[in-house]
Amino acid sequence: MKRLGILTGGGDAPGLNAVIRAVAKVAAAEDAELYGFRNGYSGLIRGDYLRLEKQHISGLLPRGGTILGTNNRDNPFNFPVKEGNKTVYRDMSDKAVENLETFQIDCLIVIGGDGSLAIARELAEKGARIIGVPKTIDNDMQGTDQTFGFDTAVTTATDALDKLHTTAESHHRVMVLELMGRYAGWIALYSGVAGGADVILIPEISWSIENVAKKIISRKAEGKPFSIIVVAEGAKTPKGEQVVRDTIKGSGDPIRLGGIGHLVARMVENTTGFESRATVLGHLQRGGSPSPFDRILATRYGEAAARLALAGEFGKMVSLKNGEITSLTFEEIPSGCRVIPAEHSLIKAAKSLGISFGD
Ligand code: F6P
Repeated sequence: MKRLGILTGGGDAPGLNAVIRAVAKVAAAEDAELYGFRNGYSGLIRGDYLRLEKQHISGLLPRGGTILGTNNRDNPFNFPVKEGNKTVYRDMSDKAVENLETFQIDCLIVIGGDGSLAIARELAEKGARIIGVPKTIDNDMQGTDQTFGFDTAVTTATDALDKLHTTAESHHRVMVLELMGRYAGWIALYSGVAGGADVILIPEISWSIENVAKKIISRKAEGKPFSIIVVAEGAKTPKGEQVVRDTIKGSGDPIRLGGIGHLVARMVENTTGFESRATVLGHLQRGGSPSPFDRILATRYGEAAARLALAGEFGKMVSLKNGEITSLTFEEIPSGCRVIPAEHSLIKAAKSLGISFGD
């Protein structure tokens, strides 16, 4: 009987449980066992795992978060270990690979973003049998057209924009909504268009306060003394600087962006004289039940990952290409972050509708 393992790594995204459920169902149908490692790679190194059976996956499809737990700090190549009363960082990657053999796992399915899947690739180079499943609300992963979690985040952000509209209109204010997305503006672009934003500021397009102000002033002249601005957390200031909220010790990607929303609101108020307020939507974008689209994408990814694992086709990531589920080897995944191309058709369409990108 085959034994599959599964773990969720990095920041959570709506749909993680739907992948676990799909893998579990395929495994059960094919008479394979499934073991879930708790809290990302940490569970693999510490040997913290459980057999996933029918009762664990019941009711999982609409459930946000991950029943396995996750973390975006513990990297097997730089793993926190207690020595006396001190925490030191050690390369525990050999232990991770060895544990897969000790626990007799034929293939480990890693559901993660670029950080967790880069680790998966390095472990695969050391001999671990791994399949990757791409997730992130940011939609910035190379090698796939879309990650699950993104659609739900866009839905949450659009709902927030609908709510901001009514208060902006009532108070004749400029409301700025800061959204997640790291170094890419996907969530800001899609929800900005869906939520009827007047200005969208994203990391991919440099902007000036004069251009933003021009749009807001022209709306007032047209009898609309309120405006909605969506700004991606990774959007740079007009001077080209990224706004950093925090630096997380021990994290593979220690920078946490945040703060540009309040900065934009202040700049708009100072330049136009219009009262402005900023809202930071934050982790609400990662929470809650996955949208139907994300449930379907996560289910398709999970089914495909389980099939690859059972067929012994290791060292691959499942992917969505032109509406179909396919896979590519870890080596075939382009490096870096998938930002929005300048010529993206939604940017063009938004501009034709009069949405300003501040450029
Ligand atoms: O990658 C997902 C994400 O939510 C980003 O959009 C955001 O910048 C980051 O994670 C926040 O990380 P944390 O949960 O560590 O604050």
